[in-house]
Amino acid sequence: MEDNIVNHILCLHKQGQWKEICDSFHNHPDRSKVLWVFPSEENFAFIADSVKELGCDRVLSVGCGSGLLEWMITQATCLPTSGIEVDGAWWRCKYAPPTFIPLLFTAPTLEKDIIRLLHSTTTALLFCYFNNRPAFEEYLKHFTGKVLIIIGPGDGKGVHTDPRPFGDVGEEWTLLKSQEVRSSFDFIAVYRRDQQ
Ligand SMILES: C[S@@+](CC[C@H](N)C(=O)[O-])C[C@H]1O[C@@H](n2cnc3c(N)ncnc32)[C@H](O)[C@@H]1O
Repeated sequence: MEDNIVNHILCLHKQGQWKEICDSFHNHPDRSKVLWVFPSEENFAFIADSVKELGCDRVLSVGCGSGLLEWMITQATCLPTSGIEVDGAWWRCKYAPPTFIPLLFTAPTLEKDIIRLLHSTTTALLFCYFNNRPAFEEYLKHFTGKVLIIIGPGDGKGVHTDPRPFGDVGEEWTLLKSQEVRSSFDFIAVYRRDQQ
């Protein structure tokens, strides 16, 4: 079953069919092996509009996993989207899930190249189903941009992430808007940092 979904998605990825991937697999029981959240076209448009309205021209996703979401954001919105993962050895081993973009790797202590990427005022920083609070805070400490997007489960979903989309960021961040991912109890929350 798991192999089937992976192979099917790989095949659609090769053909550039991001809409088909989202529409076919958003309810699949094994979907989290590849990606936790499969947004709709409306959700992608919401991300694109939010990022562009706030003066950003790219997205940097932390804890991107397979990079499928990041590939689909690029396809759906034309916003260049890159992804960072920890533990390069695991992601290069033969048991790791497939990857859909070239991943950027870091050690748990952020490396210079990654810190350089975080020094950008036109990058929106994305965390999707991230679950590492100390690392989240470390990334935000180095990030000089003003747009933060958190995708994750709302109350009632029964899944834990840290940060959650609501209520988990410091006071310098203002929640500007949010949208539910389909009718999934997952939410996309967009924050702006007030001028420092
Ligand atoms: C629950 S997974 C979510 C993956 C993907 N974003 C998704 O939605 O399917 C969380 C990911 O965060 C990564 N992660 C944990 N600590 C990290 C760190 N310090 N830097 C980058 N990625 C990290 C993990 O390796 C894991 O792949």
